[in-house]
Amino acid sequence: MKIVSAEFVKSAFERSHWPTDGRAEIAFLGRSNVGKSSLLNSLLQRRALARTSNTPGRTQSINLFLVNESFYFVDLPGYGYAKVSKSMKEDWGKMAGDYLADREELALCIQLVDSRHKPSKLDLQLHEWLVFNQKNHIVVATKSDKLSSNDLRKQLRLIEKEMAGSKVISYSSQTGKGRDLVWAEIARSLS
Ligand code: GTP
Ligand code: MG
Repeated sequence: MKIVSAEFVKSAFERSHWPTDGRAEIAFLGRSNVGKSSLLNSLLQRRALARTSNTPGRTQSINLFLVNESFYFVDLPGYGYAKVSKSMKEDWGKMAGDYLADREELALCIQLVDSRHKPSKLDLQLHEWLVFNQKNHIVVATKSDKLSSNDLRKQLRLIEKEMAGSKVISYSSQTGKGRDLVWAEIARSLS
């Protein structure tokens, strides 16, 4: 896909902030620090459109980016970061959960997992939820540049086994490896 324009639109803290223009939405989901904002920037080839950080839990609102004036990228807050307060954790559940459950504009959920690790309990719970609710989704295994090609192959097999039935694509936001495959899935979901 040729990126003609990409702009930050707003941070949504509640349902009333969600867009009302009916454009399709592509959501990025995964635990804190897994690389959601980095993936979004890498796909759009913009270095710092979405804020990335070494401090997990950075993105705490639903952040919306308009791409080519035609669809939205939706950067959801990360889950599973132990140091955020209890009410913050409940808020994640409610805010992101409401969005995922109710959003008709949602064309594709991109669930991120760290390619170096076995999917966590929360990763598997979310995945099960996506499958059970028949959400159109793919799994992207991030930070692939941190593994040797041999270890990456092993890890991908493990992730495919744990998240059976779902398409798994490995990605590096550092090198852009995997970009064409992910864009192909996004384009398919929009057509
Ligand atoms: P929250 O907003 O806190 O939920 O985190 P996030 O999922 O948006 O993660 P973010 O994109 O901020 O990345 C977290 C850290 O991982 C940053 O230091 C990134 O530079 C690093 N990172 C993300 N993707 C990659 C990757 O593909 N390769 C490498 N080497 N580092 C990455
Ligand atoms: Mg982020």
